[in-house]
Amino acid sequence: MELLQDNVAIVTGGGRGIGRAIVHELVSDGAHVAVFDRAFPPDFELFADGLRQTGRKVKPVQIDITNTGATEKACEDIAAEFGRIDILVNNAGITRDKILPRMSEEEWDAVLDVNLKGAFNTIRVVGRTMMRQRRGKIINISSVVGLIGNFGQANYAASKAGLFGLTKSVAKELAGRNVNVNCVAPGFVETDMTAILSPEQRAILLNQVPFKRTSRPEEIAGIVAFLASEKSAYITGQVIAVDGGMTM
Ligand code: NAI
Repeated sequence: MELLQDNVAIVTGGGRGIGRAIVHELVSDGAHVAVFDRAFPPDFELFADGLRQTGRKVKPVQIDITNTGATEKACEDIAAEFGRIDILVNNAGITRDKILPRMSEEEWDAVLDVNLKGAFNTIRVVGRTMMRQRRGKIINISSVVGLIGNFGQANYAASKAGLFGLTKSVAKELAGRNVNVNCVAPGFVETDMTAILSPEQRAILLNQVPFKRTSRPEEIAGIVAFLASEKSAYITGQVIAVDGGMTM
């Protein structure tokens, strides 16, 4: 039997990048996945169709997770359609980099709204469903930047560090209902988000990585699938850095 046989998952920001790799991994392990994203790239349907060959459902839901009412309704609709929600992966995230004295209020708010409040919006509704089920796995995708900070990313670092506090608090609140809540903090992953870095920025970052290489999205997705499975039943409230040794 597959690890996640017939589990139902929601993955935010699953249209591309790390989120898409997580969708792929969860479906490969037997789950049905609702993919929340504000915009799906043109090749998403081809990707989803490939996964549907396994007999699992892959349901794209176009939604901006900063919209509290719409996000709550989307989560409720998934619970109603599939009858349960076993796994929630809060992966959607954005950057608006600038040194703090030059950062606008809009740049601060935009990053906090997606990266931190977006997770609040989904967990509030899905947490209730999981409490009723007395079973569930919540995985928040943070960043090593939340652990060590980064030049020009005060808004992003604050949002990602905020996810640590959110994770640990909700882990304590939901532990009595058999719900695990954990955080994954990736290092430097090859996606569209990091493709905008200059060769100089890449070199500086890679210099901080003992493995001297970037990560593939699949290497993050594998840890997420582990945290979504019963193999991690006794792990909760943890931050797992997947960073090639960057923060050891
Ligand atoms: P990406 O930019 O390639 O993908 C992010 C996805 O989130 C996109 O599909 C985008 O449309 C979606 N999204 C953004 N705002 C949204 C909103 N308001 N509502 C719904 N969907 C929204 O980014 P990537 O690299 O795949 O990152 C995924 C997560 O991993 C993010 O939370 C990011 O902060 C985190 N991360 C990425 C690292 C990297 O090196 N790429 C390193 C550490 C953490």
